[in-house]
Amino acid sequence: MKNERQIKIEILQEEDLKDLIKTFSFAWTSPEATKVKWEAYLAEQKAGNRIVCLAKWQDRLIGYGSLLKNSKYPHFRASRIPEIHDVWISDDHRGHGFGRQLISQLEWLAQKENYQSVGIGVGLYKDYGRAQKLYIRLGYVPDGEGVTYKYEATVTGKSYPLDDDLVIWFKKKLPKFSTQGDGYYLERQEEPIPEDEQVLFDGISDDAAKKKGMERVKPFRIYVRDVNQSVLAGASGVTYYGCLYVDMLWVEESIRSRGFGKKIMEEAENIARERKCTFATLNTMDWEALPFYQKLGYQIEFIREGYKKASRMYMLRKEL
Ligand SMILES: CC(C)(COP(=O)(O)OP(=O)(O)OC[C@H]1O[C@@H](n2cnc3c(N)ncnc32)[C@H](O)[C@@H]1OP(=O)(O)O)[C@@H](O)C(=O)NCCC(=O)NCCS
Repeated sequence: MKNERQIKIEILQEEDLKDLIKTFSFAWTSPEATKVKWEAYLAEQKAGNRIVCLAKWQDRLIGYGSLLKNSKYPHFRASRIPEIHDVWISDDHRGHGFGRQLISQLEWLAQKENYQSVGIGVGLYKDYGRAQKLYIRLGYVPDGEGVTYKYEATVTGKSYPLDDDLVIWFKKKLPKFSTQGDGYYLERQEEPIPEDEQVLFDGISDDAAKKKGMERVKPFRIYVRDVNQSVLAGASGVTYYGCLYVDMLWVEESIRSRGFGKKIMEEAENIARERKCTFATLNTMDWEALPFYQKLGYQIEFIREGYKKASRMYMLRKEL
């Protein structure tokens, strides 16, 4: 299943030009202009300023993208940030994670060359909506320089056409390249990307389903918000294999002792019962909330010692 959704990514070679020009001659440009573009890309690649990746799926060319070392965007150029440029996945192959794979490969190429960050620009109108959402999900953040028009900073109060030249720029910090041999590499993520976490989650769930016919591990979040939508309290956790596990519970100091902690725990237990769990577990440190949980019916299952300053962790359990 996974391999069906895996694209093959190859670096542009001279002999690819014909197929590229045939496959990607768009209505809004001429075949001649397309030819000029790809020849220019190849020349730039030969000169060391661009690496062009071609995406193939089931032996068919379905997309492309480049890593442009000297971006035309002055801020990237000055900060030595290579630009992920001209990424395209054909219409009928969108929505399968191919764009994501292509971008990951381009990031990896940048990482291999010891760049600390990589950047990408995106248009502001709706045709770019998918790309805007994807870049944010992949951990890109706006570079804080506002919007540019034809690569130049826009000026407050002036008018600009909403076209392909009106662009906002994003960048992403790259982890240090560390090879694990065989083309694998270790990435350290200090700001988790939900999509990547999901892969681990899915992997564990699939494994449990395969080996013991277990249902999927299911996360939950509960929040208390005020009228401004600010989060003032909440809990996170999972239900797995018939058990509720509450990972984090926190109530903002100014609203403690007003029953919110209890309400949140009761809501978590309701979720657990709906998901057919028969017991709940959680851990609390000796200075945290043991009496609170005991009041809610949790009992000490065992105590783990060995933490700093002679601290103890209580592993608690309650039958539901
Ligand atoms: C622990 C915490 C979540 C409790 O939330 P809260 O909203 O203040 O608790 P509630 O008002 O719902 O209290 C429910 C009951 O527990 C009791 N209780 C709460 N904290 C208690 C404590 N530290 N010691 C003894 N009893 C406590 C309350 O008196 C109340 O009793 P009642 O039902 O008889 O009136 C909150 O203090 C907190 O966020 N602490 C810091 C983070 C933390 O320790 N999290 C837990 C990590 S495991």
